[in-house]
Amino acid sequence: MARIAYVNGRYIDHAYANVHIEDRGYQFSDGIYEYIAFYNKKLLDGDLHFKRLERSLKELQILEPVNAGALKVIVRELIERNGREDGGLYIQVTRGVAKRDHVFPKNVRPALVMTICGAKTPKAHEFTDGVKVISQPDNRWARRDIKSVSLLANILAKQEAGNQKVRESLLLEKDGTVNEGSASNVFIVTPSGTLVTHQADEDILGGITRDVLLKLAKKAGIKTEERAFNIIEAKDAAEAFITSTSINVLPVVKIDDRLVGKGSVGAVTKKMQELYNAHIYKQTGK
Ligand SMILES: Cc1ncc(COP(=O)(O)O)c(C=O)c1O
Repeated sequence: MARIAYVNGRYIDHAYANVHIEDRGYQFSDGIYEYIAFYNKKLLDGDLHFKRLERSLKELQILEPVNAGALKVIVRELIERNGREDGGLYIQVTRGVAKRDHVFPKNVRPALVMTICGAKTPKAHEFTDGVKVISQPDNRWARRDIKSVSLLANILAKQEAGNQKVRESLLLEKDGTVNEGSASNVFIVTPSGTLVTHQADEDILGGITRDVLLKLAKKAGIKTEERAFNIIEAKDAAEAFITSTSINVLPVVKIDDRLVGKGSVGAVTKKMQELYNAHIYKQTGK
């Protein structure tokens, strides 16, 4: 299957797609990104992702590389040219190409790159048996609400999870507050059945999956709370799960050396998986 990328106005064979060495994304990680899943060639929650992309750009004072309508046309064309029914769309916008200088360059066009990849869904047994995670210090900067390409602290934490042969690292403040995962949001279910996740502030990335799940849970009559919780509360929780565009709702059955609840996937987590899968079906038919 042909793999085609979009680079600053051109559709190019993925193998030959590249950007200039003075792209500020490469030099300073001066850029933002989105990752959107598609099923049957239809974007899942596309409008929510585009809204977050616009917000990230605004927060970093990067101009929109193309208008919202044009962006959607390019996305549709790219998915078509790649010929994939299901997969992931990666969009990256950087401040552009300019002589290396910390100060924003004047009169520079933002750079827009898009690639398509296969779905990164977890293995079937991970959804039914759950996964293990570890806790790690949150070493990121103070504006985690911006989906910046600056992911060094995230990848180091994820690598440590891989080194310890577990799925994810939960990122902790010094006082033990669980912010989120290295590439996911974290939910716990309290012993009394309340679904809890960190409030959407500057300490976490406001995940689209997180937002959708909160709405689905409320609609289904499940009590929800958006508030800080610490690692002790997480380990004492009845259930826990992590969410993102690529992992959907992934049950967590062990944190560090402690089983969560009975060490198996709980009823609320299963319900949230069902609700989320129904949400995907309703929007995309998959
Ligand atoms: C740090 C972080 N938190 C949360 C998420 C989940 O966001 P979303 O549900 O929009 O994919 C991601 C996704 O990549 C992430 O990198």
